[in-house]
Amino acid sequence: MSYKIAVLKGDGIGPDVVDCTIGILNKVAAENGTVFEYNEGLIGGIAIDETGVPLPVDTIEICKKSDAVLLGAVGGAVGGSKWDNPDGNLRPEAGLLGIRKELGLFANLRPAVIYPALKEASPLKPEIVGDGIDILVVRELTGGIYFGEKFSGDDYAYDQMKYSVEEVRRIARVAFDAAMKRNKKVTSVEKANVLEVSRLWRKVVLEIAKEYPEVELVHMYVDNAAMQLIKDPHQFDVIVTGNMFGDILSDEAAMITGSIGMLASASLSEGTMGLYEPVHGSAPDIAGKDIANPIATILSSAMMLRYSLEMPEAADSIETAVNRVLGEGYRTADIAKDGDSIVGTVKMGEKIMKYL
Ligand code: IPM
Ligand code: MG
Repeated sequence: MSYKIAVLKGDGIGPDVVDCTIGILNKVAAENGTVFEYNEGLIGGIAIDETGVPLPVDTIEICKKSDAVLLGAVGGAVGGSKWDNPDGNLRPEAGLLGIRKELGLFANLRPAVIYPALKEASPLKPEIVGDGIDILVVRELTGGIYFGEKFSGDDYAYDQMKYSVEEVRRIARVAFDAAMKRNKKVTSVEKANVLEVSRLWRKVVLEIAKEYPEVELVHMYVDNAAMQLIKDPHQFDVIVTGNMFGDILSDEAAMITGSIGMLASASLSEGTMGLYEPVHGSAPDIAGKDIANPIATILSSAMMLRYSLEMPEAADSIETAVNRVLGEGYRTADIAKDGDSIVGTVKMGEKIMKYL
């Protein structure tokens, strides 16, 4: 078999973690008699520097011709970078939003998992963490307030929050399908006490739920969901929600694991095309220093093997290798505590590769 993978390293530590992951993928390819053909494209700040726009047409073309996209990170330093721009379309982040829309990546899967070896990293009390946390946030990614009509005038501005029945149906199905393979519970998060769009959301999710009689469905307002995630994360299995609420809640869910450097994500379209990227950002302060944690990207590549490339065993083998390396006490600096063996990006990749 042969697959085309578009590689968008992006900014900051993007190149560090993607290069490391490609090392892992090469070994996976060799061991499975598969060929991965990598095609690099520019996205984000580096694309602005080299072409003037955050998502060059070439990049879109490369992605559309590929079976999957592996992305590092986009954007500059939080709180100010040379790419800050009053024109939203010329910011690095616009590259990410653009590629999601261009590829129709409507379903964003963000697993928030506490690895047994990293339990103490959670900022929550041990009695709340219990024997670990495993939540899957399913965020609608190409609709809602992010992509509604926008207007900016001198006296006012607005962003419209709109969902069609079909958009809610398809994301709800992704969530229920995922729940069937997990613990059979879906929490649908919206603000139906205030928003029309949320009342529609709730109605449609209820209708889809009838197709999945085995799955328990709970409706929750977003403000309460923000509290419940901290109070009792074990009540959640799959959370399904719109673009904006999903943006916020997936960060919160990531934080309660305490190890954002470990978290992978997949953004899927109707077909097998998907974009895979770490949940963490570009961390420009540590870029190029061989200290970034590559595990989130490596685990994202495992999701790529599973969802886009039909190589589930290879995906399992990466995940198992990561757990073994953690079990042996190897850590990058971001997840290390006293007594751990601190390794850099490259070394971490090599350790994981050894167990593939
Ligand atoms: C994310 C990010 C993006 C989003 C930004 C960078 C546009 O926060 O992937 O969660 O809001 O979707
Ligand atoms: Mg976000």
